[in-house]
Amino acid sequence: MRAPEIITIDGPAGSGKTTVARMLARHLGWRLLESGSLYRALTWLALSEAPELLKERGPRLMKFLRERLPDLRFEASEKGLSLFFREKPLREELRLPEVEARVSELAAVPEVRELVGEILRELAREGRVVAEGRDMGTVVFPEAQAKFFLTASDEVRAERRLRDWRAQGLSVTREEVLASLKARDQKDSTRKTAPLTIPQGALVIDTSEKSPEEVLKEILSRLP
Ligand code: CDP
Ligand code: CDP
Repeated sequence: MRAPEIITIDGPAGSGKTTVARMLARHLGWRLLESGSLYRALTWLALSEAPELLKERGPRLMKFLRERLPDLRFEASEKGLSLFFREKPLREELRLPEVEARVSELAAVPEVRELVGEILRELAREGRVVAEGRDMGTVVFPEAQAKFFLTASDEVRAERRLRDWRAQGLSVTREEVLASLKARDQKDSTRKTAPLTIPQGALVIDTSEKSPEEVLKEILSRLP
């Protein structure tokens, strides 16, 4: 059988998608597309330059984003998606709690999703990519030959995110992290356009009790 050209990994925050997708991409020597980074970058841009448009989420927001698009550059490699704003790399900015708190609002706008979908499909034109996010297997790459959906309990996901935030020197409580994750899950799963759902034919893996290595092994054993 022909090796799949696109593998999708979807799931809620803290399910371990990014970590495992990165390991898988490195293992296969394929490029990694972390679609959440694109939503985060657009949120960061709107928050920095036009926060009022983010509240409005109307045609003026789309006009602003389309106008700013030439200032953004995306580079996909085995290590992931690198983003630049006027050639300055965007890294920590994308993980800021303000961005995290607002990203699901922006991601609920259908025109924003279309724009991100276009960017992702262009980046994946040559195939051999691992695409990770919320709607990779359902909307953006329904033709993917292998689809995975990762889950984990709320407590485990909050604990993981808490560890990651504390490692970055941010002082947050477990309750704050749990509340922020649940609010985002709620918005991501109930929005009208491309809500977080299990793609048809996807293998669901509960990662609560598994190490990233175990999850990778399971994924590799299921590839056609
Ligand atoms: O790493 P984590 O799962 O916490 O977040 P992410 O993958 O960076 O995604 C950030 C946000 O972008 C999500 O909460 C969604 O609102 C949005 N997103 C989306 O709507 N569709 C995707 N394919 C990826 C992300
Ligand atoms: O992308 P997503 O929000 O789904 O998760 P992530 O950004 O990969 O963060 C998951 C965190 O949990 C990382 O610190 C991983 O080391 C850890 N972890 C994991 O990813 N997978 C497991 N099976 C166990 C722990």
